[in-house]
Amino acid sequence: RYAVVLAAGRGERLWPLTSTRPKPLLPLPGGETLLSRLLRQLQGLVDGVVVVVAGGWAGEAVRRHLEEKGLAASYAVQREQRGTGDAARVGVEALPRGVDEVLLVNGDLLVSRGLLEAVAGAGAPALAAVPSERSWEYGVVDIDERGCLRGIREKPADARPGSLVSTGVMLLPRGRLEELLRGLKPSPRGELEVTDALTALAAEECVRIVTGDWLWMDVGRPWEVIEAYKAVFRERMGPRREPLVEGEAEPGAVLRGPVYVAPGAVVRSGTVVEGPAWIEGEAGPLARLRPWSFLLRGSRAGAHTEVKASILMEGAKAPHLSYVGDSVVGEHANLGAGTVTANLRFDHSTVKMTLKGRRVDTGRRKLGAFIGGYAQTGVNVSLLPGVRVGAYSWIYPGAVVSRDVPDCSFLAP
Ligand code: TTP
Repeated sequence: RYAVVLAAGRGERLWPLTSTRPKPLLPLPGGETLLSRLLRQLQGLVDGVVVVVAGGWAGEAVRRHLEEKGLAASYAVQREQRGTGDAARVGVEALPRGVDEVLLVNGDLLVSRGLLEAVAGAGAPALAAVPSERSWEYGVVDIDERGCLRGIREKPADARPGSLVSTGVMLLPRGRLEELLRGLKPSPRGELEVTDALTALAAEECVRIVTGDWLWMDVGRPWEVIEAYKAVFRERMGPRREPLVEGEAEPGAVLRGPVYVAPGAVVRSGTVVEGPAWIEGEAGPLARLRPWSFLLRGSRAGAHTEVKASILMEGAKAPHLSYVGDSVVGEHANLGAGTVTANLRFDHSTVKMTLKGRRVDTGRRKLGAFIGGYAQTGVNVSLLPGVRVGAYSWIYPGAVVSRDVPDCSFLAP
């Protein structure tokens, strides 16, 4: 049995975080990425892994990353992003001879190992499904009285909270899968979809649905990155309620509740950290970190900076007098003194964002900014709720950013 991991998507909805890395390489707390975590979890469950990557820099980045992590895989290149069904076909065609079962997994999933274990052990064909409170945002599975898949309804408006949704993790017989993938026709949205192959198979034989109370997150939209970090934190810290300091907390630093300070990280004096918080970088002196602050390696929240429910990725800096709330600051981005994210609208209504050209309600009243890697803001920049700043862009001092700024551009006030 082999796994085929799909990691060739464009990750457009996650722009600008995906301008500087493919989505599966999004970093997680603790030094893993979505993809390295997944490959580690697959160890022992499969005999090998084929990772389907895009051509060009994105595919190269994936290869290099997994090699650095010492994770063995073979690669298949999907030249054009024609959909998950096409990516799966490319992966299945690259399998060595003799492999007769395929564990198909999307490379942007954050799951618990139990889910992968259950599907891998179920016997092909099988599909994992989990209850979702927002089932209408996913593919809702319809099951017959024998526990077999009857069909999948994509984003049905009438779905109830708690209905079972497809995780996209499935174990399928290689031969028949290959035939079905080759015969796929474009869906209404113009893509070749794995789901179509799966439902065609379900018409021929019983595709067993395995369910469980597993962690399953599809990290596709910007705010889901913050939710994914919370999930990893809960997994790593468990029920712990007190700080765990493996790095340094200077005298005069106050740590309350579940705060993790990683080896090499430092919390300087006068800083107040209210857990849950995860610190791999540097906080303070005199910073305030409120619940769900994540400071990755090399990042810094300096004097009089307040962080709340936000991520400072590797090397990101908010050195002085900033407020970063419900936001993600990409790797090596620098916020000038006085840079402030607004994370609540005057009318308190939910924040909207434009994803792939469509206006989307994020369902969140509190949502700040998403700042691409290597971007810089000047002093006293204000960022309105839900705006994105492209990677490598510069925002002039004093500017009010009220709409998205493309990659590599310059915004004057
Ligand atoms: P999606 O999340 O549907 O697509 P995406 O990753 O390109 O993101 P966006 O819609 O924001 O542009 O993809 C699900 C999984 O399938 C994901 O792991 C990427 C992978 N994929 C491919 O490998 N090739 C493809 O052509 C597509 C569309 C997706």
